[in-house]
Amino acid sequence: MSLRTIFLNGLIALPVGLALPAPQMGDYGENKGPVGGVKPPTPTVTSTSGSLYGDSSFLGGNAPLPDPDKSDSAIVDDPEYVNGQDADADLGLYLDFDDTEVPQPIRGGLGATDPGPRTYEYEKLNPDLYAPPGTDTGDVPNAMWPLGLSHNRHGSQAGAGWARQQNQAVLPQATAMAGVDMRLGPNAYRELHWHTASEWSLITKGCVRVAAINEEGKSFIDDVCAGDVWFFPAGVPHSLQAMDKGVEFLLVFDQGDFSEDETFLVSELFLRNPVSVLAKNFKTDTSAFDKKPTDQLYIFNGTPAPKDIEKQNITSSAGAIYGKDSYTYHWSLQEPHTVPGGSVKIIDPTTFPIAEGFSAALVVVQPGALREIHWHTTSDEWSYFLQGSARVTVFKAPESARTFDFTAGGVGYIPVGNSHYVENTGTEDLIFLEVLQATKFSDVSVAQWLALTPKQVVKDHLGFSDELIDSLPKEKEFIKTGDVNMTAIADED
Ligand SMILES: *[C@@H]1O[C@H](CO)[C@@H](O)[C@H](O)[C@H]1NC(C)=O
Ligand SMILES: *[C@@H]1O[C@H](CO)[C@@H](O)[C@H](O)[C@H]1NC(C)=O
Repeated sequence: MSLRTIFLNGLIALPVGLALPAPQMGDYGENKGPVGGVKPPTPTVTSTSGSLYGDSSFLGGNAPLPDPDKSDSAIVDDPEYVNGQDADADLGLYLDFDDTEVPQPIRGGLGATDPGPRTYEYEKLNPDLYAPPGTDTGDVPNAMWPLGLSHNRHGSQAGAGWARQQNQAVLPQATAMAGVDMRLGPNAYRELHWHTASEWSLITKGCVRVAAINEEGKSFIDDVCAGDVWFFPAGVPHSLQAMDKGVEFLLVFDQGDFSEDETFLVSELFLRNPVSVLAKNFKTDTSAFDKKPTDQLYIFNGTPAPKDIEKQNITSSAGAIYGKDSYTYHWSLQEPHTVPGGSVKIIDPTTFPIAEGFSAALVVVQPGALREIHWHTTSDEWSYFLQGSARVTVFKAPESARTFDFTAGGVGYIPVGNSHYVENTGTEDLIFLEVLQATKFSDVSVAQWLALTPKQVVKDHLGFSDELIDSLPKEKEFIKTGDVNMTAIADED
C-alpha cells in the first residue's frame, strides 16, 4: 500500500496507516501551555531557640519608630514586561507571561509590581486574572476549575485506574452540571453501578465496552472509542470495561453536587443486605455469597472481554435497546462542520434522542481565532478543555465582567444568559467541549444579532460605520479568525 497523506481538519498531514485520532480529537499528552516551577530554599534551622511571644514594649506607641531608610524595601528592581503589557488596558491583549521569568501584575500603566509572596506558575497560567483587561470589572463568580487541582481517587487495584472530579464543592456556582475525568487501565472495570443523576460521556482516549439494561428488561451492549458518546439515564444500571489498550473518558452529570464517590455500587448492594435475604432473592444457599467482595471494588482489574461482542449480548423476551433508544452515539464517525478558523460539531437529542437533556458542541479553534461572542438562552454551560490554551470573558449583568484562562484539563462554567467568547491563546489548535442542559444545542451570536437588527438602530446605539454594519454576517459564523500574534494589534494604534 502506498503511503498516501490526507489532511486532518485541513491542518496536519499524516501518513495513512498510522492510527489517526477521530475528527476533532487530539493526541493528548502533557499540556503544551506554560509549565515551570519554584525552588524553595532548604531549611537550615536545626535547633530550638527564642520565645513564642514578643514584649509589650513592641506595641505601637511604646516601640521606637523605625527608620524607613534602613528598613525593608518593597521596591522591585528591574521588573521585566512582556509584549502588550504597556498597551491600553481596554485593548485587553493576551499577555504571554511565559516570555518572562517573573511576571508583573501591570497592564496599561495600572497595577504595580509584585514583591510577593507568590507562585509564578499560577500567574503564568492565569495572566488575565493577574493583570486583568481594563474591561474587567465588578464581581463575577469563579468560572474555572482545573482538574489538575482535584483530588485523584485511585482504583482498588494496581494499574486499574483513577477518577477526579469537579462539582459544586470546588466550583460553587456550577449547580446544574458536574464532571468526572476517569481512567481505566487495560481491561479494567468501573464497578457495576447506578446513580440518581443522568450520565453523559465523551471518550477522550482508547476504547470501552458498555452495557446496561432499562426498566423494561431491554438490554444494551456496545463498543465505543475516542470521540464517541454514551448516555445513561438516571437509575439505569451500567457496566464499563476498558478494552485491552485502556480508556479515558469524561463524564458529565446533570446534578451540580454529584459525587463520583456516592454512586450505588453492586458490591455495596451485596454488603448492605442480609445474606439470608440475598439467598432468598437469588434462590440459593447463603454459602453462594461466601466470596462476595468485602469492600467496594470501585475501579478494578478484569479478565479481558471476548473480542466478539455477541458472546456478551444477553437479551430477554423484551429484546435489545436499539435505534432511537440507543445508549451510545458513534460521534467519532461524524465529520465536523468546518468554518474559517476551526470546526464545530453538535450532538443533541436531534440525533441522540435518549440523551434528553444533554446538548453539546465539540469545537476546534485554530491559533489566533475565537469562538465568537455568544450566550445560551435556556441553560448554563459546562465546558471542558481537551487541548491547548484559551481565555474566556464572562459578562454578567449588571456591570460585571471577568476573564478566565484555561488549559487542557480545565473545566469552565458559565451561567445562563452570560455572554462569553473562547479565544485560542496558544500556538496549537484549541479543542473544547460545550455542554448544555437543553433539548437542542443553541446560542445567540452577537454578530448575527446585530446583522439582523435594522441598520439605523445599530448605528444609533453603537456608532458603527456603514462599512462595518454592511459587513455583519447574517449567517452564524461560530468562529472568527485572527492574528496568531496576540499583541500585534498594539502597534496598529
Ligand atoms: C444483541 O442481540 C440483539 C437480539 O438478538 C440484537 O438485536 C442486537 O443487535 C445485538 N447487539 C449487538 C451489539 O450485537
Ligand atoms: C507580535 O507583535 C509585536 C508587536 O508588533 C511584536 O513586538 C512581537 O515581536 C510579535 N511577536 C511575534 C512572536 O512575532
